[in-house]
Amino acid sequence: MPVYSISLDELNKTLPRNAEQLRSWCAALEAGGILYFPETPVPIPAGDLEFLLGQHQTGSKLHKNIAYKPVRDQLSGVDARTSPAAVVEQLHGIMRRYSASVTGFLAEFLAPYHEQWLLDYASYRPIEEEGRDLPVRRRNDLLHTDAFPTRPTHGRRILRFFHNIHPTRTRNWVVGEPFPRVVTAFAPRTLAIPRPDSPVAHAAKQFAQVTGLAALVPRWKRTAYDEFMMQLHNAMKEDELFQQSCLKEYVQFPAGSSWMVYTETVPHAVLAGQYALEQTFLVDPAAMVTQESAPVAILEKMAGARLA
Ligand SMILES: [Fe+2]
Repeated sequence: MPVYSISLDELNKTLPRNAEQLRSWCAALEAGGILYFPETPVPIPAGDLEFLLGQHQTGSKLHKNIAYKPVRDQLSGVDARTSPAAVVEQLHGIMRRYSASVTGFLAEFLAPYHEQWLLDYASYRPIEEEGRDLPVRRRNDLLHTDAFPTRPTHGRRILRFFHNIHPTRTRNWVVGEPFPRVVTAFAPRTLAIPRPDSPVAHAAKQFAQVTGLAALVPRWKRTAYDEFMMQLHNAMKEDELFQQSCLKEYVQFPAGSSWMVYTETVPHAVLAGQYALEQTFLVDPAAMVTQESAPVAILEKMAGARLA
């Protein structure tokens, strides 16, 4: 899996106007590459960084993954019963600033997309990833492609921008083979080749959406595309032989670095690391520089029908 390293110097020479270079970076991302910034282009103010790292050390209860929903300006994952209101307020402000700075940077860096994305959640991950005890489908240390059980993307791509804010340690990832090869390995051996919904199923899902029933049953919110991507996520994590024998590449992201990747197509796992920030974007596949690289295009070609 290619990793493209981009220095701040190179970035400064490119932004805002070198359209050709920006398009080629988008194309590299879309083809399954990781864009890696040895020094993050979105630095965190020193006071914010000190606060984020300090919470854990002082024994505060901010030990869970924290999610920030920029569209609603809402913070979740903090236990209000054990965290003082002032601490929650400060964390809320930090996440708001972080989300806004990443969005501002990517509006320029991903100019070829013309912001054809939905701004999704940001997260703060203060937990040590090594040795976490989680159920198989929620484990981060097993290779997988991302799919959200309760928030289907309906064909939109999942682009994630990360920042390792640990003062000294690397964040250790493994990445797997390109998406088309993974899909070929799992479909149709393990997963059915995706098929569009029947007219009856389509009508039932529409009814569930309109009446709000879809909120009760996550599956009713999913298109055929979402259903396949969810099952692929589960099948990869649950296949021990695949986990042991598939081709893997180990990548270590140093302290202070950032990277971005389409995580719904690049198989990835995090083996170790603590303290990371992340912002997710759901990008319209129509905005791609290479539209045929979008997973919805790949799966629709296999199915010979529209899936999302
Ligand atoms: Fe993931």
